[in-house]
Amino acid sequence: MQNKFLIEAFQTPENVASTLLPYFGELRKDPYVDSDVRFRSYARFSLSDKGGLVRLPHAPFMQSSEVNRVVGDIERHFEPMSDDMIDLPEFQHLLKSFASATGLEHTGANIDVHQIRVTCSANDTSAPAPEGIHQDGFRFVGIFCVQRKNIAGGFTQIFSSPVDQHPHLNTVLEPNQFIILDDQRYYHHISETLSSNLGEEGVRDVFVFTA
Ligand SMILES: [Fe+2]
Repeated sequence: MQNKFLIEAFQTPENVASTLLPYFGELRKDPYVDSDVRFRSYARFSLSDKGGLVRLPHAPFMQSSEVNRVVGDIERHFEPMSDDMIDLPEFQHLLKSFASATGLEHTGANIDVHQIRVTCSANDTSAPAPEGIHQDGFRFVGIFCVQRKNIAGGFTQIFSSPVDQHPHLNTVLEPNQFIILDDQRYYHHISETLSSNLGEEGVRDVFVFTA
């Protein structure tokens, strides 16, 4: 008998988000969105069958237009993720946690990681997921929250189908919380964010893991 993975959520040690947070300040603007509110970097890893993790050479990222109707079928050249950050035990812990929760350890699977900052003001909403309710086109998707500063909204929502009226799960990911879902069974969305403090910028920082 074997269980089938659906959704798992857990909390990492407190110091993970605070240690990784400074590296979000170095992110460059995402050139593939039509606004100045999204910053990101990208890295690819491979799990060796002995349980180790190796960074793969930097490469463009592409999703099919079937799963991403906003920027599908376009090679996106994101900035490479900071080597210094990747070497930190806190970052390695996130990679290993994703691999072990999904059962991908020792499988030789590849893991892609996106480091994303979305900013917003009190007057203009920002869309962390411009593609709407969607799948990423992988087996598993993980979202780890590093920071929510002055953020209203930004709910992590999981749906059974793209036309569901009500999410199967609707939650706020707080710093150090990690949620992983079966990307073939579920659809996800992050609702729009707005700064909760007039005159102050709102910031939401996450890592997205896919495999
Ligand atoms: Fe997504």
